[in-house]
Amino acid sequence: MIQFKDVEYTYFDKTPFQRLALSIDSLKLEMNEYYGVVGKTGSGKSTFLKILTHLIEPSKGEIILEPRPDNIRKFFGFVFQQPEHQLFCETVQEELEFSLKNFDVDESLWGEKIQEALKMVALPSDFVTKDPMLLSGGQKRRVAIASILCYEPQVLVLDEPTAGVDGESKEILLQAFLKYHQKGHCIFLVSHDLNLINNECSKVLSFKNYSIEKVGKTFEVLSNLDVDLSPSLKLLKSFKNIDSSVNTKVSKDNFLSLRKKYAPTRT
Ligand SMILES: Nc1ncnc2c1ncn2[C@@H]1O[C@H](COP(=O)(O)OP(=O)(O)OP(=O)(O)O)[C@@H](O)[C@H]1O
Ligand SMILES: [Mg+2]
Repeated sequence: MIQFKDVEYTYFDKTPFQRLALSIDSLKLEMNEYYGVVGKTGSGKSTFLKILTHLIEPSKGEIILEPRPDNIRKFFGFVFQQPEHQLFCETVQEELEFSLKNFDVDESLWGEKIQEALKMVALPSDFVTKDPMLLSGGQKRRVAIASILCYEPQVLVLDEPTAGVDGESKEILLQAFLKYHQKGHCIFLVSHDLNLINNECSKVLSFKNYSIEKVGKTFEVLSNLDVDLSPSLKLLKSFKNIDSSVNTKVSKDNFLSLRKKYAPTRT
């Protein structure tokens, strides 16, 4: 469990430029969930992820991990909002080796771990020789994700991992995240795409004005947010109001079966 107690973060603290970016009185996070993190731009999502993963220290309050991991840095894996911020080696191979070395993975396992991670993000094994900077945006993102997955952090933190990624690559990445979660890892995924959050995540944290607005089961939180829901989510919300047992996945098959049940064709 991860617990936040009276946590605040202020950029440029105690200077004339100080700017509050996060304020959370009390929050308990379970380690077996797939959390979606939502909120308007500038609401504090990325700052929350940096505090959660101990990349930055809170200006006030504390974050308690129970049980406390031996190596906090290895416990969290952070895929940044801009993949360029985490790629700096000359080849994909060196990029992944850097992570494995950094997190003390036995050198005899490197070859196997690199191939496994590339497979998870559906990149061919001969990609190891490529220069990350010469790849497309979607490929760079996949390499950035592989460089985190290869050392198997217990908590995977993804800041807008599907931004700028085409439909097919997006599906591949979402499948990889789901599998990683099903293997027993906790995930935090930031996205502005509420349909995606609704379909993938077990719980949602919503941010407003640098603070948690709501936290709870995905569909409950999303359908009570103070935002314009997509037409699909609106429709699901209205079905759910009639029948609390409806399946809340946004998918063509689900909509077809709901239409058959609630709006049979007139004869
Ligand atoms: N490096 C920084 N220096 C100063 N202020 C910052 C910095 N990074 C973020 N902020 C401020 O902190 C607040 C929260 O920003 P944050 O990046 O956490 O928002 P966000 O929810 O991730 O937004 P987005 O959806 O645009 O990524 C904003 O007011 C932002 O202007
Ligand atoms: Mg952000």
